[in-house]
Amino acid sequence: MKAYIWSLPTRIFHMMFAAFILTAYFSGDEDKLSTLHVSFGYAVGVLVIYRILWGFVGPAYSRFSDFSLHIKELKEFVFNVFNHKKYAGHNPAASFVMITMFGVVLLTVITGILTYGIQEGRGILSFLNTPYFKEMKLFKEVHEFFSTFLMILVALHVSGVIFDRVMDKETDTLGSIVNGHKNIEAPSVTLNLFQKLFSLLMLGAAAGVLFYSLFFDSVLTKSKDLPISYKQENSAFVAECASCHTLYPPHLLPRASWSKMMDGLDNHFGDDASLDEPTRVSIKEYLMKNSAESSTKESAFYILESIKGDQDIIAITQTSYWKKRHAAIDKSIFSRNEIKSKANCKACHSDIEKGMIEDMNIKIPKIKA
Ligand code: HEC
Ligand code: HEC
Repeated sequence: MKAYIWSLPTRIFHMMFAAFILTAYFSGDEDKLSTLHVSFGYAVGVLVIYRILWGFVGPAYSRFSDFSLHIKELKEFVFNVFNHKKYAGHNPAASFVMITMFGVVLLTVITGILTYGIQEGRGILSFLNTPYFKEMKLFKEVHEFFSTFLMILVALHVSGVIFDRVMDKETDTLGSIVNGHKNIEAPSVTLNLFQKLFSLLMLGAAAGVLFYSLFFDSVLTKSKDLPISYKQENSAFVAECASCHTLYPPHLLPRASWSKMMDGLDNHFGDDASLDEPTRVSIKEYLMKNSAESSTKESAFYILESIKGDQDIIAITQTSYWKKRHAAIDKSIFSRNEIKSKANCKACHSDIEKGMIEDMNIKIPKIKA
């Protein structure tokens, strides 16, 4: 006797859910894969919302009211695991794992979006990226905790299926993942028009969100900081201050440092960088107006904090913040031919001359063979 247990949308959901979660999980540690990770994360978010709603409006077996969520049944199932009663849908152990999994996935996605917003200043919550929140590692830690927990649930789920395969080949639960049918005495499911349309819409939305987030610069992945064209803002600044080195964004030093530097250009770190008076005044005013004090960027905030103890600093690389953030980089790396000096920021930060220091744009040049 064959019964149709898992409808097509349920099966498609299952495939997408598994593939998307695994992709997101394995791309989570790589800064370079951050867009990929986040895009799959958003899509998993849509999928889990669909699945939770499907638990209320979906067909038999997929509905939560058809899950066996009674401790008594669970006990009975576990104690008689080698000879348990047959369940057409999820058995009690699977039911508990599924419900926990949906909850954990939802929390993983939410804490992921919070982390992305607060720590990276990206995505739909990018406005939460304020100096006040920035050092808050809390959400990131909770996100990592939930994602690990999720992998444990996935492992439990997969072992359950394998165990079932070994113990009860007859029913063909494994095959039902693909074709929807189990060899069991039970009523088959049918979908009404609403259920079909709803599934089409939601599964389509999950795929759409994934595609949109991956390939378009949108609110889903955009940084709250926009690239700045310094040339448009003050062309003399670019012409005069990027000829010997990286164009240092004004927000990386406080007003007092810029003032001091611009008043001593004849001996600028041992070089003569003198300018005619109108140009010097124009650049000086521009730098002071856009100094760390008037920026909302987190690097500006930390540079101000770290420079408090030593007002004489006029080099970004002398601030304790800069030193701390680069402490892990071996000194020999800075003297590589491709870099030459630690003041050569643009060798590693390809976006710095646009006023950005995005994690995804940090790259230490390799030694050329
Ligand atoms: C004649 C070449 C020259 C010009 C022009 C020049 N600089 Fe420099 N600048 C240097 C040198 C050399 C250093 C030291 C770099 C190093 O430590 O490797 C330096 C360092 C700096 C630093 C500190 C970098 C650090 O270590 O954190 C800042 C900031 C800076 N310059 C700003 C400016 C500004 C603003 C202008 C335009 C008004 C300017 N520079 C024009 C040669 C120049
Ligand atoms: C040899 C490559 C290299 C050079 C040169 C370099 N950096 Fe970095 N920088 C890095 C790396 C790698 C990180 C990330 C460190 C980490 O993961 O905490 C970083 C981090 C930072 C951060 C923190 C970013 C964040 O989101 O927290 C700032 C700000 C920064 N660099 C500014 C500068 C400036 C300004 C200069 C030039 C004066 C510079 N860096 C030169 C490699 C470099």
